[in-house]
Amino acid sequence: MLDNKNVVLYVSGGIAAYKAADLVRQLIKQGANVKVAMTASAQEFVTPLTFQILSKHHVYTDTFDERQEDKVSHIHLADWTDIAVIAPATANIIAKLANGIADDFATTTLLATTAPVFVVPAMNSHMLENPATARNLTTLRADNRFVMEPETGFLAEGYEGKGRLPEPVTIVESIKQFLVSQQLDLPLKNKHVIITAGGTKERIDPVRYITNDSSGKMGYSLASVARDLGAHVTLISATKQLSNPFGIDVVHISSASEMLETVMKTYNSADIVVMAAAVSDYRPKKQAAKKIKKNEESLIIEFEKTRDILYQLGQEKQKQFLIGFAAETNDLESYAQEKLKRKKANMIVANDVSKPNVGFNKNTNEVTIFMPNSEPIEISLRSKEEVAAEIFKIAIKQMIK
Ligand code: CTP
Repeated sequence: MLDNKNVVLYVSGGIAAYKAADLVRQLIKQGANVKVAMTASAQEFVTPLTFQILSKHHVYTDTFDERQEDKVSHIHLADWTDIAVIAPATANIIAKLANGIADDFATTTLLATTAPVFVVPAMNSHMLENPATARNLTTLRADNRFVMEPETGFLAEGYEGKGRLPEPVTIVESIKQFLVSQQLDLPLKNKHVIITAGGTKERIDPVRYITNDSSGKMGYSLASVARDLGAHVTLISATKQLSNPFGIDVVHISSASEMLETVMKTYNSADIVVMAAAVSDYRPKKQAAKKIKKNEESLIIEFEKTRDILYQLGQEKQKQFLIGFAAETNDLESYAQEKLKRKKANMIVANDVSKPNVGFNKNTNEVTIFMPNSEPIEISLRSKEEVAAEIFKIAIKQMIK
């Protein structure tokens, strides 16, 4: 998303300026070309040399420091920009931007910038609440500048309040989301995608349950890919081991019946449902209200079948494109074809989990895609993110057929 994008980072003078150094690193990590401009007060907190070393570019501080005879540097930098990021943005630079004031290198270049401007305010909570600052932020939003919400927490002043600069990784995620929202030609724009992930847990008693080896990684990768393709994503997750992906509605559930209930709540509005979860096929017939004591030599637990969610979705299908998974250890093709028909799915993504580096709890996967009236498509061993991207590429092609 940020690969080869020209990012100009404007650092203004607040205590959070030190965090901007890490922001440069995070942006570069995403493949961006980063150049930095600093206000005079920012240089009181961090030196231009820090940013020069991290960005591997000259740091812009002085409007009249013209290094190339044939170029006016602030116009040249403004024209080079794919996205301008102001972080931290103080009340002062926000006021100048809102009112078109250009009295130093940073504000002059910002005035000449036609690329999207992403503002990350960070200041004392009282300065943020000041009616002038609030008015200026409203003006920036009306001017189509993207303003990120500051975080609430422990401020440099020693008390809790709203105004903290979000962590650099969070800023980068938000920038990526912002760029996605700017792209009008994304294939899943205005589509609602429901994705289930992880292994469900079926309670035996208040302290015990049965589950399976699913890590949820495949489902989380699919959710991030769908989001980047422009979809509104609801991720129904049976795991708490993975952090919530940015810009996705995550609903945590535990059992197969909770998963079914949650999927059904939004099924009508869904365009695509991906059942990547490893749903328990059986659950204990009775759930003990109290912890089972080890009084007996052996313990027999009777299991009953859970409802098959994908099958249910197939029965009630209207416009939805249904993608199911099949984790098999043998006879992959015949089982996958059978599931495709019986569950009325549009696609079954099958993997042979007996192979090394495939499926449960791994970071890589190798799958075969089955669709009605079509030859199976093999996707060779690669990261789960790459597999997820291939799955959506094939699904989108199939949907517009
Ligand atoms: N699935 C489901 N509800 C269940 C069981 C499975 O929605 N109670 C979904 C899974 O999320 C997956 C697909 O059905 O997308 C196939 O799951 P899998 O466990 O491979 O197949 P089963 O139908 O459970 O059959 P079997 O265990 O006999 O292979």
